Amino acid sequence: MADERHHCCPPRVGLRKRVFAKLYNKAMAKYEPYIADRKQVLFANLPDRVVEIGPGTGANLAYLPSGCRFIGIEPNPFMHDLLKQRGSELGVDMEFRLAKAEKLEFDDDSIEAVIGTLVLCSVAEPAQLLAEIRRILKPGGKFFFIEHVAAPGKSWLRFLQRVLRPIWKFVGDGCHPDRDTAQTIEAAGFTSVEIEEFTVPRGVLPRFVSPQISGVATR
Ligand SMILES: C[S@@+](CC[C@H](N)C(=O)[O-])C[C@H]1O[C@@H](n2cnc3c(N)ncnc32)[C@H](O)[C@@H]1O
Repeated sequence: MADERHHCCPPRVGLRKRVFAKLYNKAMAKYEPYIADRKQVLFANLPDRVVEIGPGTGANLAYLPSGCRFIGIEPNPFMHDLLKQRGSELGVDMEFRLAKAEKLEFDDDSIEAVIGTLVLCSVAEPAQLLAEIRRILKPGGKFFFIEHVAAPGKSWLRFLQRVLRPIWKFVGDGCHPDRDTAQTIEAAGFTSVEIEEFTVPRGVLPRFVSPQISGVATR
């Protein structure tokens, strides 16, 4: 593990990733209870093998069906200890890979379900990642997601998101507050996409990440 951390990124970027991993659970302490009911419904029928992109500290492990084989693709090595710890507390049969999800080491048409929450805001190439998810899913396989997204076009909130983008990217490990992720998912070539928009209430997360979507994209 020490080696992975040393080689993952230049020292200053590594420091930012380490700080982000350390503070992440505290920052999400109100969000996870808030989003729990939505996750229960969204993840209700997961199969017995699930791939998660960017699992972070393992916020979604509690929603896996018992006996599920879990494969997490997590490029921040400083998240891995917490992920491992949560997985072993929950008795999850897990494997995780230190990799970016824009290139997924799975065969075509091989996976029934991919999940990802609050990840497409952070990846460098969201369209490429969605193409990879589509490639590895079996026909009829599903991608389940929750994402924070851009506020409507000319709103003050969209303006605020744009103004805050550089600083938020810096402190939030590459997170963009103003991505039109619904549009990117809809353009990714899935057979069907169901999306629900919702707004996280005040006090749970900063206002500029309150417009969110959840849904399912089917290959
Ligand atoms: C805001 S955190 C969300 C963590 C977790 N999914 C959750 O809901 O709490 C974003 C996560 O995406 C990961 N990430 C960033 N770029 C990625 C990429 N290219 N491929 C896979 N994961 C990535 C980060 O390391 C981080 O763990």
